[in-house]
Amino acid sequence: MAKIKATHIRGACPMQTKVFRGLIRAKSSKQDNKDEKENCHWCQLRSFPTHKTAPITVVNEIDSQTLPQNFRFINGVVLGTGVTAADLSFRSGCTCGQDEDCQYSGCLCLADLDQDEASDDADDDHSGLDSATRASLSPARKKAYAYHTHGHKAGLLRSKLHTSKLPLYECHQGCACSPDCPNRVVERGRTVPLQIFRTPDRGWGVRTQESIKKGQFVDRYLGEVITSAEADRRRDASVVYHRKDVYLFALDKFTDPQSLDARLKGPPLEVDGEFMSGPTRFINHSCDPNMRIFARVGDHADKHIHDLALFAIKDIQRAEELTFDYVDGASGDSEELEGKIEDMTKCLCGSSKCRRFLW
Ligand SMILES: C[S@@+](CC[C@H](N)C(=O)[O-])C[C@H]1O[C@@H](n2cnc3c(N)ncnc32)[C@H](O)[C@@H]1O
Ligand SMILES: [Zn+2]
Ligand SMILES: [Zn+2]
Ligand SMILES: [Zn+2]
Ligand SMILES: [Zn+2]
Repeated sequence: MAKIKATHIRGACPMQTKVFRGLIRAKSSKQDNKDEKENCHWCQLRSFPTHKTAPITVVNEIDSQTLPQNFRFINGVVLGTGVTAADLSFRSGCTCGQDEDCQYSGCLCLADLDQDEASDDADDDHSGLDSATRASLSPARKKAYAYHTHGHKAGLLRSKLHTSKLPLYECHQGCACSPDCPNRVVERGRTVPLQIFRTPDRGWGVRTQESIKKGQFVDRYLGEVITSAEADRRRDASVVYHRKDVYLFALDKFTDPQSLDARLKGPPLEVDGEFMSGPTRFINHSCDPNMRIFARVGDHADKHIHDLALFAIKDIQRAEELTFDYVDGASGDSEELEGKIEDMTKCLCGSSKCRRFLW
């Protein structure tokens, strides 16, 4: 293991000195400020609306490496050339009169769920509910949404979804319910402070600054949403073809060659987090991870640009490294891999379930 150096950079970035100089020059020009924000990681992180409540910090106690200069932090996906969100006229939301209605099958946001996926409240914790509320939980109303409503698990993903590949349907800006609706977990965003840190052997990694519960939403995987053709072009331009794959995630949850919606016929759009993303772009792979990626849909008209939402699938202690399985359990085609071992990256996840190679 590499010797730990005393360098400790809290939220620093290569441009930090320049930024401070910029501040001293005191608003010399708006353009200067804009340029600094373009280039300064710390300025980008500080401008996040959650900076006070759930800051992202950066530390390196291993070597003198800084975050890649060609990378910038963003707070939402960026639609690349040729990628558009649905037209206003195609947008729709639910008409639920009360927020609590958005948990049940009648909510239009949950209309695309297979009814077999609806479940009763059996795994909710009802202790602490008054008798009137308990009585109102009619067993006839099938709970369809993805989260627990009551007790200490409120807001956490239901256990049966932890291993499923089903998409999560959430309420959104176009719905009649309030921003506090229980079905807006991903929309409300990250609440956990995270730290990007230098690992001894896998470059940068991410650890949590607070404990995280099993089923808790952590953050979205952000990036530039690009066409499949552009993704292929970027793969081809990469020195090692598969190296690019660790940053590209296909938005293929709803891809169906038979679809009447041209945007869902495929090939799917992809999210490239290499050059612009949130802290999740620095999360390393593990063959026995503590998080999983779920497809999350808000407005149904935007299924082609669905979110990639990371949820904890284990209880995670404060300061523990966050990981997810880059291929979600899928193993490579052994014929395709034959003879390419020298091109492959050895997996250093250290778990007893390790599949030995990253790709
Ligand atoms: C999406 S990036 C993660 C952040 C990366 N560590 C960095 O410093 O930018 C993926 C890259 O991280 C490294 N990596 C991630 N998980 C790894 C693992 N389990 N074993 C070895 N290298 C890993 C590989 O270099 C991989 O190409
Ligand atoms: Zn609703
Ligand atoms: Zn709602
Ligand atoms: Zn809704
Ligand atoms: Zn592994």
